[in-house]
Parts: sequence; C-alpha cells; structure tokens
Amino acid sequence: MQAGVKKLFVKSYGCQMNAYDAARMADVLAPEGYAETGVIEDADLIVLNTCHIREKAADKVFSELGKVRMLKEAREAAGLTTTIAVAGCVAQAEGAEILRKQRAVDLVVGPQSYHRLPEMLRQAALGPVIDTDFPVEDKFDHLAQPSEEKIRQRGVTAFLTVQEGCDKFCAFCVVPYTRGAETSRPAGKILAEAERLARAGVREITLLGQNVNGYHGEGEGGKDWSLADLLTRLSKVEGLARQRYMTSHPNDMSEDLIRAHAELPSLMPFLHLPVQSGSDRILDAMNRRHTAADYVRLVERIRRARPDIALSSDFIVGFPGETEADFVATLELAREITFGSTFFFKYSSRPGTPGADLEDQVAEEIKSERLGRLQEVVETQRRSFNSALVGRTIDVLFEKKGRYPGQIAGKSPYLQPVQVDGPETLIGQIAPVEIVECSSNSLFGRLAESFSQAQPTREAN
Ligand code: SAH
Ligand code: SF4
Ligand code: F3S
Repeated sequence: MQAGVKKLFVKSYGCQMNAYDAARMADVLAPEGYAETGVIEDADLIVLNTCHIREKAADKVFSELGKVRMLKEAREAAGLTTTIAVAGCVAQAEGAEILRKQRAVDLVVGPQSYHRLPEMLRQAALGPVIDTDFPVEDKFDHLAQPSEEKIRQRGVTAFLTVQEGCDKFCAFCVVPYTRGAETSRPAGKILAEAERLARAGVREITLLGQNVNGYHGEGEGGKDWSLADLLTRLSKVEGLARQRYMTSHPNDMSEDLIRAHAELPSLMPFLHLPVQSGSDRILDAMNRRHTAADYVRLVERIRRARPDIALSSDFIVGFPGETEADFVATLELAREITFGSTFFFKYSSRPGTPGADLEDQVAEEIKSERLGRLQEVVETQRRSFNSALVGRTIDVLFEKKGRYPGQIAGKSPYLQPVQVDGPETLIGQIAPVEIVECSSNSLFGRLAESFSQAQPTREAN
C-alpha cells in the first residue's frame, strides 16, 4: 500500500439523502488521505451510514456490525488497525447506546455532524467518540468539494441536497427527530454546486430534501426563493438537461411549483408524491393534514399542468386503528389515481414517535394480508404503465455500460432503467429510443433511426 493512503469503505442504507451524505463523507475524508475502496476487507475505515425509518432497517445495522467486528478482529490478527464508524439516522437516534451494544465501534456521528469527521477520527485513536449534536454552523460550509475526476467517476446523474430536516411530525415518522428541524440551503451555494457538477459532465440532478417542496432558501438579493424559483434558475445551468426533486409533501405543492412542471422542459414528468393512506380518519391520525379528496384534487391540478406526468407514491398499511374499511379506502384511492410506480410498507412502530403510543396496533398478519392486496393493485398499475411505453419513442439519458457487451443502459424520463444496443460514446447523452419490450423492472429498446450522434441532445435547453 502506498504510504499515507488509507482506504475507506462506506456502506449506505435508507434514502437518497443518505447516498448523497455518503459521497460527501468521502469528500471530507479525501484531503485526509482516504481513498474509497469497494472491498470492505481492505478498508482502514469502515463507515456504516444507517437508516432508522423502520425497525428492520435499524436492526440490520446491528447484524452488519457483528460481521464488521469479525473483520476488524481478523485484520488485527494480521497487524492492521480498522476504525469502525456508525453514521446516519441510527447514529442520531441511538447515540451512545451503539457504543454499549457493539464495542467494536470507534465512532458515532449524526447526519448533521459529519463535517467533523476528520477531527473525530483523530480523537477516535484515543478512545470511542460520539457527536450527535445539531451544530449551529452549517455542515455544508465545512465540506470539501469533490474533485472533477471524482464527480466523473460517480457518473452523469447526481443528487444534491437543498433542504434537510422536517417539521411536519407525521405520527409514524422518525425523520424529524433524526434529521432535526427544516432548513434550506442558500440558493447561491446550491447553484455553485450544480455548476460544478455540470462542468464535470453531470447531466441530471435530483434535488433532495425530506420535505423538498417546502424549500425556502435565501435567493438572489436576499429574498426567499421557492423550489420553483430554484428549479427555474437551475434549468439555465449549461449542460444540465434533466432535473428531478424528492420527496414532496402534498400540502407544499404550491401553484408556482405546479406551473414549473408546465414550463420547464428540463423538469422530468415524474413526481414522487407520498399519500400514505386513502382514509381521512387515518390521514388525520397520521397528522398528514390533508384529506384523500385534497390529494385527488391536487393530482388533477398537476395533471392539467403537465398531462404526460406520471406519479409515484408511498403507502403505509396497518397504521394503528386502521380498519378494513380504512384500508379499502386506500385501495380505492390507489385505483382512482393510477400510479406509475409505488412503494408500500407495513407500519413499523418507532420508539419516540406518537404512533408508538397509540392503542389499536394492527396485528402483523393483517398488515401482511393488506400489503399483499395493495401490492397486487399497484403492481398491476406499474406493469401496465411500463407496457404502455412499448412501441413509443422516449428520450433516454445513458448512464453506463449495459448488462451485456455492446449494450448501454440509461433512464427514461420516468426513471425506468432502459437497455439498448449502442456505443459507449453515448454515455452522458440523451437519445430517442424506441421501446420494444418491457419486463417488470426494465425497458428494452433500440436507438431511434433518426438519431445521429452529431445531433445536439434534445432535452437540453
Ligand atoms: N421525507 C419523505 C420520506 C420519509 S420516509 C416523506 O416525507 O415522504 C419514506 C417513507 O417511509 C414514507 O413516505 C413512509 O411511507 C415510510 N415510512 C416512514 N415511517 C414509517 C414507519 N414507521 N413504518 C412504515 N413505513 C414508514
Ligand atoms: Fe416523515 Fe412526514 Fe416529515 Fe415525511 S413529512 S419526513 S413522512 S414527518
Ligand atoms: Fe432513513 Fe434517515 Fe433517510 S431514517 S429514510 S436514512 S432520513
């Protein structure tokens, strides 16, 4: 091993924001001499970037830590030291408890403190260290920027956190406790980060926030910008051809944001808009602060603005007190809206959330049974959404080599993976593809004959 170069392995669980954070942790550690490796056995520093959203996700961390401990011991026997860090939302929620449960852990760092990793690593050499503060300084001001080469390695699509934390306190959700209060980054800093990404070849950015459409950051001239203002400005960044944002709350789908969907060609016609339940009684108990009819009306407005938009959603089944009639209302809402794709979860009681104290917890078998019925409805919708694209020509942003030699893979405007036969020179470009076949998760197509590589990319504006 080259003197001075240490190896870093980061494993990320949970949402896209955790994936973004994982990259930023690698960025902050690069000037400290850490280079990323994909081989965990080689790592001098292992970071588990954890998720606390459901019990299963949180439990997974401890089984993973058991394996990592054995690795640490095996390396120790070979005369190598390994530092083990737990980051992310379990770190925030459980803090010092992690050090008690698993002694092999050297360092626990919450999602708002990872800019302090270099200093924490120095302290960890002397004994276990923990930082789960919500510091007053903005971590983004203290993070090293990735090199252009690093951005290129990460590919032509990128995440960019614009807003973090949540003040909505849905009764089931740990996020307000693990990520803290809602904050929006200043638009100028987001713009600088987006321009840097674009200069290094990034063509698509997904703006991230726990409640991203509630974005209200400082804009030009000191006045607050909405997410629509930000998207409009970012649509002018040279090279950025596609924009997405997630995750949105229905109550923050403002008029200007809906209009942005009509006006910005770079804003992809695909919106993740979780509804959680179709029963007003349950929506109220969840503290979602809107009704099922509000959601239906909102979707109508969005579809009027952008008729080709597809929607996806999150659903929770078996929230405390959910009756068969409540669940049927959820099925009805799903049927009425028709989603392009959907995520569905069994309610998981989380310590410290109001939902955990509610009586009438729903039995596990009933949750499983309802999940199966919802799955049938939404999976049928997904399959028909995918198969409706067969025979149509859609723009695909090519991201990487495909599964087989001679193939390249990219994404449709609706985030479906698409495989085609084509040259690697198309990676980073958007090309029209005629869809010829679909499986449950992917589309297969051929490059449209009209497309020649010399053409400028169509979506770029
Ligand atoms: N900030 C996003 C995502 C939150 S977590 C949002 O506001 O939508 C992603 C999804 O996990 C949620 O939309 C919800 O459907 C699900 N989820 C959150 N807490 C849960 C719990 N305790 N049990 C089951 N699913 C949960
Ligand atoms: Fe959780 Fe609700 Fe906030 Fe989303 S809006 S992060 S579900 S509390
Ligand atoms: Fe999980 Fe935290 Fe994201 S709990 S879903 S990693 S915000």
